[in-house]
Amino acid sequence: MLPLVDKPIIQYGVEEAVASGVDNIILVTGRGKNAIEDHFDVSVELETFLEARGKREQLAEVRKISNMINFAYVRQGEPLGLGHAVLVARELVGNEPFAVILADDVIDANPPAVRQLIDVFQRLEGPVLAVERVPRDDISNYGVIAIEPNARLGDGIYQVRDLVEKPPREEAPSDLAIIGRYVLTPDIFPALAATTSDRTGEIQLTNGLRELLKTRPIYAYEVKGVRHDTGNKLGFLKAVVYFALRRPDLADQFSAYLTSLDLQALSAKR
Ligand code: G1P
Repeated sequence: MLPLVDKPIIQYGVEEAVASGVDNIILVTGRGKNAIEDHFDVSVELETFLEARGKREQLAEVRKISNMINFAYVRQGEPLGLGHAVLVARELVGNEPFAVILADDVIDANPPAVRQLIDVFQRLEGPVLAVERVPRDDISNYGVIAIEPNARLGDGIYQVRDLVEKPPREEAPSDLAIIGRYVLTPDIFPALAATTSDRTGEIQLTNGLRELLKTRPIYAYEVKGVRHDTGNKLGFLKAVVYFALRRPDLADQFSAYLTSLDLQALSAKR
């Protein structure tokens, strides 16, 4: 729920899904996350208040949020990993392809990142993972893929040969890191159910995909866009600056402020 400029981070993910043509969203939440449900809900009190005060613009914004899409919520009782979070949505997803969005990866892209993956999915008819080339020093923060060297599938599209979750730098099979977008098929669910917990006690989606790879081809696509990892402090700060500079109502004044900063003087005060 931390805001980037004036919208909670999770809303960027929801808006990306809507703009990608998704029509139902399942939010996997947990203890202490009720604010998320309230945020996307119809707020009768707030709407009445804004209407009475003639605050039309704010009213439209509030309605836009609650009208956006169909929301369903499922709680992950214990934080047992990303694979487990996907597995708890199994009954609600049913027997259909679906997208997974890890909302702390905020991606500014046109077409939106999930739309890019759906387009590849429709062509290749198999699960597609979003990947990005990352510096070697950062590679062990990600799931990493090895690719089939001879598959010629088109610009930025790869066939996955293997996947490994957060490998040590020297064991990473490539610099292609999985970023937080996936388009998956329902056969991931039995694969996840057959996946054992890792040594931290979590079921990893990467390991579930590795299981699935035994039965069908999986693809990866280098999404075209700018990604911010808002899950760490520096990434969050960069994202705030980036999205503020993308805002027509703020960009001029904010960029004047940034260029006015005396960085040397500020760092001397540290
Ligand atoms: C998760 C996945 C990892 C992926 C990453 C992308 O890790 O387990 O494979 O590369 O998201 O953001 P987390 O960041 O939750 O530790």
